[in-house]
Amino acid sequence: MCGIVGYVGERECADVLVDGLKKLEYRGYDSAGIAVFENGKIVVEKSKGKLQDLVDKMAKEKKPEGHCGIGHTRWATHGEPSDINSHPHGNKRVSIVHNGIIENYKEIKDFLLDQGYGFESETDTETVAKLLDYYYNGNPIETIGKVIDKVNGSYALGILFRDFPGVLYAVRKDSPLIIGVGENENFIASDVPAILKYTNKYILLEKNEIATIKEDSVLITNEEGKVIEKEINEADWTMDAAEKGGYEHFMLKEINEQPNAIKTTITPRIQDGMPYLEESGLTKEMLKSFRRIYIVACGTAMHAGLVGKYVIEKLARVEVTVDIASEFRYRNPLITKDDLVILISQSGETADTYAALKLAKERGATTASVVNVKGSTIARESDIVIYTHAGPEISVASTKAYSVQLSIMYLLAFELAYVKGEISEERCRKLTQALVEIPEKLEEVLKLKERCQFIASRLINSESLLYIGRGLDYALSMEGSLKLKEISYIHSESYAAGELKHGTISLVTEDMPVIAVATQSDLLEKTVSNIKEVKSRGAKVTMICTEDVDIEKDIANHLVKIPKIYDELTPLLVAIPMQYIAYYTAVLKGCDVDQPRNLAKSVTVE
Ligand code: M6R
Repeated sequence: MCGIVGYVGERECADVLVDGLKKLEYRGYDSAGIAVFENGKIVVEKSKGKLQDLVDKMAKEKKPEGHCGIGHTRWATHGEPSDINSHPHGNKRVSIVHNGIIENYKEIKDFLLDQGYGFESETDTETVAKLLDYYYNGNPIETIGKVIDKVNGSYALGILFRDFPGVLYAVRKDSPLIIGVGENENFIASDVPAILKYTNKYILLEKNEIATIKEDSVLITNEEGKVIEKEINEADWTMDAAEKGGYEHFMLKEINEQPNAIKTTITPRIQDGMPYLEESGLTKEMLKSFRRIYIVACGTAMHAGLVGKYVIEKLARVEVTVDIASEFRYRNPLITKDDLVILISQSGETADTYAALKLAKERGATTASVVNVKGSTIARESDIVIYTHAGPEISVASTKAYSVQLSIMYLLAFELAYVKGEISEERCRKLTQALVEIPEKLEEVLKLKERCQFIASRLINSESLLYIGRGLDYALSMEGSLKLKEISYIHSESYAAGELKHGTISLVTEDMPVIAVATQSDLLEKTVSNIKEVKSRGAKVTMICTEDVDIEKDIANHLVKIPKIYDELTPLLVAIPMQYIAYYTAVLKGCDVDQPRNLAKSVTVE
């Protein structure tokens, strides 16, 4: 939530900031703003709405000119989206951009009001800006040190002090921040894609380390001013990966990237035809020793965990509990040191998932994270990290990150089942080989585009939709339903097909389309009965099944057939028609597919 950038170097700063913010807009798009040193003064431009509104405003009025500055794209928490609440905040002496939440902002505000300070905005951020001004003693590092001692909450801050033109300051706690290291230019950013156009070298800032960044130097100190040596990392994501590459939307591009993303994720984890998670530190001995597994995540990542549960329990016969992170953290879960807690997160920054990780660690459990963003907080703080290699996922609706998370769930299930003696080596090899063949099958499924486009055209006038399935198909239905409502704003619910009769079927009319997933051979007949039940009540049914299924004519209004593979693996294929249906429904409705209203990609607040 919220993206921040900063630049110091020879280029026109405002252009670099806008470039960086474009790459960070997925983190929030309620408003945007920049502050740039112009002739020794801090000049601020900000505007409610998307980054383009700011760009248009600067084109009409004036773009600040200079070579050092900070920028922000906002997902509103404290105070509505408005010009006044947009970042940067501050006064003539200090200007800041902030990602995170200052929990004790009211207390700070009261204190500052007593000291005679006035406030323009309703934001928590403005209190930090004014507190920096209050403590300012001519030494920025000491000033920042004093302020971070007083504020509670999460923050990544980019700071300008009027007395230090050409110097950028930064500090973080529990919100991400990297420092991009270039040739005679340096950057700060919430995420690597924001700097990739200029450099792939970056430093990860740790909790409460203070960065002093000039054109030709980066100095990291602690609050006492002691210098800290930092490693320079190299990003392996390319700039193209963060561009649309000819696609109309990032979401469509990312849907199409799934075969490759899965291939890149599983290849290093398969050795001699068998799953091999040891390179991530998850040894066979460890795997054998866990009493129970918890999988904790939010949204789509949690749905990937649900598929993991079905497959691990089915193959490895180990109990798996899947939790929504925001519930898990407050329900005093029965975790012990004998348990494995798996955290799944594309961004590696989701606040609730991070809190769940901290709780699991406190309880002495082994923690393993499945994360896409390298060096992110969850990845850094878990005992074991299994990186997915999806490349940057820009669209708010998660697609390729889900598929790679699934692929890790499969490798884990296969290896666990094998080391526990629940499946033979031969079966493990066959399953692993089937996973290796998935990217090829996905290329076939991607050709279902037109079919899904047609189905979407039948959904756009609906007010509400139902997704149904049993077993793994139910887990898939949840993801399909989330995807559709998230980007098309059509209400939808997912239901276990067998549970409909216990209440929900009363909603079914000819105005409520039903999407039924029926890929599990042992449950097919049962799901077909449920389809008949809704169809006989007028629902228009789209059925997703495997190509071998011989369906009575008229069972469903529309059919989507995917290649026949092992039942356990079908979620990887079904994900694509689900994503396509959601995508084209949103496109046909004219929705903002990549940046749906009220959302942000990286949810770093509770
Ligand atoms: O970065 P994370 O994977 O931790 O994010 C979790 C959810 O916020 C995320 O999966 C969300 O549900 C998706 N944007 C939905 O498409």
